[in-house]
Amino acid sequence: MNENKRARTKNFYNIIARLYDPFKNLWNKVFSQKAEQKFSNFLLSNVDKNKTILELGCGTAVNLEKIHELNLSFKSYVGVDLTPNMLEAAKNKFPSDSAIEFLQEDLYDFVNNEIKNNRTYDIILCTWVLSHLEHQGQLINEIQKLLNDNGKLFLIFTTKPKWYVSFWMTPLFKWIFSGNYVPETEIKQFNNVLNFQQFSANMVSVVEIGE
Ligand SMILES: C[S@@+](CC[C@H](N)C(=O)[O-])C[C@H]1O[C@@H](n2cnc3c(N)ncnc32)[C@H](O)[C@@H]1O
Repeated sequence: MNENKRARTKNFYNIIARLYDPFKNLWNKVFSQKAEQKFSNFLLSNVDKNKTILELGCGTAVNLEKIHELNLSFKSYVGVDLTPNMLEAAKNKFPSDSAIEFLQEDLYDFVNNEIKNNRTYDIILCTWVLSHLEHQGQLINEIQKLLNDNGKLFLIFTTKPKWYVSFWMTPLFKWIFSGNYVPETEIKQFNNVLNFQQFSANMVSVVEIGE
């Protein structure tokens, strides 16, 4: 990943880490209720006490909180994130659970190492992260190498909305998040897509991957 872009992303999330959760709540209410409902349904259908979960770009662990709120048990959870302050917030929420581990690492490096070490997971989550990354098509297909047989990968990410949202949202999105929409050309490269849906004038995309 481009070093400047990585540094900018890390810097941005280090600064806003404390404000992230209230902002995410508001974002969910305005733009992402349906996608979050799909996500809850996915978790309810796929997470159980025997499952190993990997989350790439876990941030402040809002998704792990969601798993707890849904009363779901799991075997283990590994959350990977680039940004120290986001991870600190995550660790403060889950201070002493031996089934939960948070790692500060670039997800590209993490995925490459896990592939080399033949590690696999039952469920991989990556929500609201892809717009900070590059070559998402190739990356998603690499991430799939970390899935067990019958494993599932769940993604939420931003895509270019319809024109009546795009003309005001795009500058705001670039300015606030220093992020980009995930291009259609990248999404078309994803292998093994089971489900692809778009919400909020196509700005929010939800993809479920598995064999
Ligand atoms: C919008 S937040 C999403 C957090 C969480 N997944 C959620 O749904 O609330 C994006 C997160 O991706 C992380 N991130 C961005 N690029 C990354 C990279 N290359 N490796 C690991 N984490 C990254 C950021 O540090 C940030 O915590």
